[in-house]
Amino acid sequence: MSRIIAVFNQAGGVAKTTLTQNLGYHLAQLGHRVLLIDIDPQASLTIFMGLVPREIHQTVHSAIVDEQPLPIHKAIHGMDLAPANISLSTAEMQLVSAYLRDFRLKEAIEPIESGYDFILIDCPPSLGLLSYLSLVAATHVLVPLETHFKAFEGTSELLRTVAKVRSKVNRKLQIAGFVPTKYDSRNSQDTRTLTAITEQLASAGTVFAPIPRSTTFVDASEERMPLAVYEPKHSSVAILKKIAISLQSLK
Ligand SMILES: Nc1ncnc2c1ncn2[C@@H]1O[C@H](COP(=O)(O)OP(=O)(O)OP(=O)(O)O)[C@@H](O)[C@H]1O
Ligand SMILES: [Mg+2]
Repeated sequence: MSRIIAVFNQAGGVAKTTLTQNLGYHLAQLGHRVLLIDIDPQASLTIFMGLVPREIHQTVHSAIVDEQPLPIHKAIHGMDLAPANISLSTAEMQLVSAYLRDFRLKEAIEPIESGYDFILIDCPPSLGLLSYLSLVAATHVLVPLETHFKAFEGTSELLRTVAKVRSKVNRKLQIAGFVPTKYDSRNSQDTRTLTAITEQLASAGTVFAPIPRSTTFVDASEERMPLAVYEPKHSSVAILKKIAISLQSLK
């Protein structure tokens, strides 16, 4: 059975897209068949993977709104990608009264699911329909949290949303864990926040080792590469790989 992981946090800029791309890369390097799904109209993942969103005609939009097959671009750094572009921003309106709309992404994934060991969904920074469709389609949710005093802002809404999806439409949805990101160990506020994240969220799911703050992540994405391709010896490569190794044991 494939594991379908929604990388989700309604807070913006917490490294959802960065984690989706890099964990996908390491899972592929570990020998797994990996599909990344970009369901964010900002299309950052599509850009990070080297495509030009405005030049793409078939996106996740056509799959969820027009019920077309999920469009898949093959073998980019060892991963496949279902891309997004700005057209997705109209999906929420177009699906307002659509029949069984909650299952549109789940149904789009079903025909291709057996071709992948891991499917990672890069959610937009909102609790809106696109994130909801992702949680309905997912087997697991992975939550990046910026290691910053604002980290807990919205965490209870996030956990409530996951609980709601689990109780209503997707009983099997599990929390794969929390990944503290952009961590600066020299900043006392960051170390306090990391301690608080570890203490307060451990009962909800695994809290993984933090990903340090480093501008090399920005450089790697500008070059459209996973960190391990851009700078194989970077200290965060081993941390990302370790998280990917842990994800292999998700049931
Ligand atoms: N560990 C890190 N250190 C420094 N910068 C980082 C780190 N991880 C990601 N970034 C940078 O932070 C910015 C936001 O990252 P990213 O796009 O992955 O976040 P996001 O949660 O997907 O954002 P959005 O909510 O807009 O979708 C990007 O410029 C990215 O390169
Ligand atoms: Mg993003």
